[in-house]
Amino acid sequence: MVVVSGSNARPMAEQLAGELGWSHHSIETRRFPDTEGYIRIPDELIDSIREEPVVLVSNTFPDSGIIETLLMLEAINDVRKGNLANLREIGPQELADVGPGILLAIPYFGYSRQDKRFRPGEAVSARAIANLLASRCDGIIVFDLHAPKVLEGLSVPVAFTSAMPELAKHLQKSVNPDFILSPDKGAIERASQVANEIQCQFSYLEKTRIDAHTIVHKAKDLDVEGKVVAIVDDMIATGGTICRAADALRSQGATEVHAACSHGLFTGGAVARLIRYVDGVHATSSLKNPQDVIPGGPALARGVNELFEILKWK
Ligand code: R5P
Repeated sequence: MVVVSGSNARPMAEQLAGELGWSHHSIETRRFPDTEGYIRIPDELIDSIREEPVVLVSNTFPDSGIIETLLMLEAINDVRKGNLANLREIGPQELADVGPGILLAIPYFGYSRQDKRFRPGEAVSARAIANLLASRCDGIIVFDLHAPKVLEGLSVPVAFTSAMPELAKHLQKSVNPDFILSPDKGAIERASQVANEIQCQFSYLEKTRIDAHTIVHKAKDLDVEGKVVAIVDDMIATGGTICRAADALRSQGATEVHAACSHGLFTGGAVARLIRYVDGVHATSSLKNPQDVIPGGPALARGVNELFEILKWK
């Protein structure tokens, strides 16, 4: 079996291949001068993609990642269907269709936060993108998706996988927290899983987002006096959520505060801002980021194995 990737998820693809004991190959990706993308499956990869199931690891972030993912899926589909006709008449032009065998593993699902329609006429962007992807593969693995509900009922099976076990192991070893905090209700399930694995105290805050850069937390008494606390969230973007939660923890006597997440978006100087508020920032390699210290490969591998079972490819 082969794992392939384009330009935006190579570290995760290599980790996944290592976990599964499969080989990893890169798909050629380039940009034309007008910024449009170009992708090509190298000649030497065509046989492997036809002979065995293939897992494409690709992010739908930033926007160019959506196009690149769709183009790579299109090209893999053509190769597996045997549609190889090309103007230069290189190699066989047509081969037999080898049937289903394409999985898409998405470390960071861009647009995952636009998962509801708040006002009439809005696009439910997460669903729109998921439908496009599902039309070109046989199953999707999504890594720590913001709100999994939006992908329920797609036309292909979806495996929701999470790096929380690895995040817990990493925190226990490097920070040894006494207390895990979820900075909002949306992260309760993930953060409480980490607290259970570490066997430490847990609580959560109630957050109201005023705009992309302003959030407020409802005041709450937290039993953190003299304690080492780790705030666990699915993603850190501007860092506003973490900075406000860290303020609440410090004002209630926490001696050390860490921030951990799956997806380190770190927009607009977030890391520089965060290090004024917390003692450490810990993320996975789902996105290229300077705080990548938690392995994401094991979680992706669990998702791939789950889909292999469901699809009976084993
Ligand atoms: C929101 O519900 C998410 O789980 C994160 O808490 C949020 O996206 C983090 O954004 P920021 O770092 O900009 O506060």
